[in-house]
Amino acid sequence: MFTAPLSFPADFDGWRVASRTALALGVPPEEMSFTVGEETPGLFAEPLPPAPAGAPQPTVPKAFPELAAKLVCHADTDRFVFAYRLLWRLQTEKQLLEIASDPDIIRAREMEKAVRRDSHKMKAFVRFREIEDPELGRHYVAWFEPFHHIVELTAPFFARRFAGMVWTILTPERSVHWNGSDLSYLPGATKDMRPKDDDMEALWLTYYASIFNPARLKVKAMQAEMPKKYWANMPETALIRPLIEGAEAASQRMIETAPTLPGLRHERQVERERMARRVPAEASEERTRPVDLETARNGAKHCKACPLWEPATQTVFGRGPADAPVMFIGEQPGDQEDLAGEPFIGPAGKVFDQALAAAGIDRTRAYVTNAVKHFKFVPRGKRRIHAKPNAGEVQACRWWLDVERELIRPKLVVALGATAAAAVLGRTVTIRDTRSKLIDLDEETKLLVTVHPSYILRLPDAAAQARESAAFNADMALVRRTVPELALAA
Ligand code: URA
Repeated sequence: MFTAPLSFPADFDGWRVASRTALALGVPPEEMSFTVGEETPGLFAEPLPPAPAGAPQPTVPKAFPELAAKLVCHADTDRFVFAYRLLWRLQTEKQLLEIASDPDIIRAREMEKAVRRDSHKMKAFVRFREIEDPELGRHYVAWFEPFHHIVELTAPFFARRFAGMVWTILTPERSVHWNGSDLSYLPGATKDMRPKDDDMEALWLTYYASIFNPARLKVKAMQAEMPKKYWANMPETALIRPLIEGAEAASQRMIETAPTLPGLRHERQVERERMARRVPAEASEERTRPVDLETARNGAKHCKACPLWEPATQTVFGRGPADAPVMFIGEQPGDQEDLAGEPFIGPAGKVFDQALAAAGIDRTRAYVTNAVKHFKFVPRGKRRIHAKPNAGEVQACRWWLDVERELIRPKLVVALGATAAAAVLGRTVTIRDTRSKLIDLDEETKLLVTVHPSYILRLPDAAAQARESAAFNADMALVRRTVPELALAA
């Protein structure tokens, strides 16, 4: 029997090195064991000797490392040996991962799903509370109790989303800290170390009460998705009982105060779309990350994560090549974009195009999208007047924006206006404080915040418009200097 030490409960790199060595030595899975941290190996287990010099590297299908990285996060105490068994079998059974009926594959897929689900819950249910730390200054702390060993797996998501904050997530087994540029892992914490209430609590309560839709209330489904275990960390759960109790009256109020109906032509169009998108609301709750832009675009067609899908004609997804070095993000589609299904083709799009042309940027090399993918409007006679999306709608649509960012991995993200900047940074910022600076989002991506082109259109006099157009053009010139490959062909 051989044993290999691993540093922490989801030490994938440690497992990979040890497994390669074990494989090179021909150690069968039944003869292999792993210890984590301070655990003591079994009485008869010998440390794994080094691999013989020149031993060949094992070959595995492309999908295996990703699967194994999830398996080692599972709470199953046998996870490392099980992942090694798959690696062992793959050396002779090359198609193993495709055999859906194989008991090991069934088990692997279930473990993978459980880990993904737990990670999804962590993303959804972590609530930061603000504290003033004598050393760290303003600092956000959250407490979370995962079922599986998912802290390392999920922490990069929080680093991307809350890049501009200093935060710590405490969990019983392992905690993680983000200092604004790096993640570090700390020992586990105890429940009494979790932060007490703060001002953010009031914000959450207002937000939750405003996105709560009494007409869609399904108590059982809600409790299944948000198990009571997490309630203690989530200020909004204090509102659940009163909101449920008031739901019937609130539904009635919604019916009575429903906005005036839009024109018949528009209504028919909406109905056609509605029929084409008959997907139950629950489908959006546990969503699989799309593997490419096309899948994402098709998936977004059916999105009902917020109420905006209903009156809008269609989802207006981003446009542009999957390897675009720059992603421009606007607020939400306007009237013309909603009808055509393409971003930035109306009046704001014209201002945008002019600025790109002045800077010598080729729009076809850029990816252009919006923070919110459905047109929000209030009907006025035959016209549909733009209405600003609220924080809940921006938040609901951030999933798609994150998907677009993950698939495209642009070098530069350009936020056109405050809504786009808030959607990228996960917090409200002012254009005045952030404009025209190259802000690090992560190691490979910078963010540039500028105004929304429609701000220029709304300015009352020609002098102000000329001044602001020049400033916007200067920002586009900075985009072009930062990403020279955007240049229009000569
Ligand atoms: N305004 C935006 O933010 N996006 C568009 O696509 C059109 C107008």
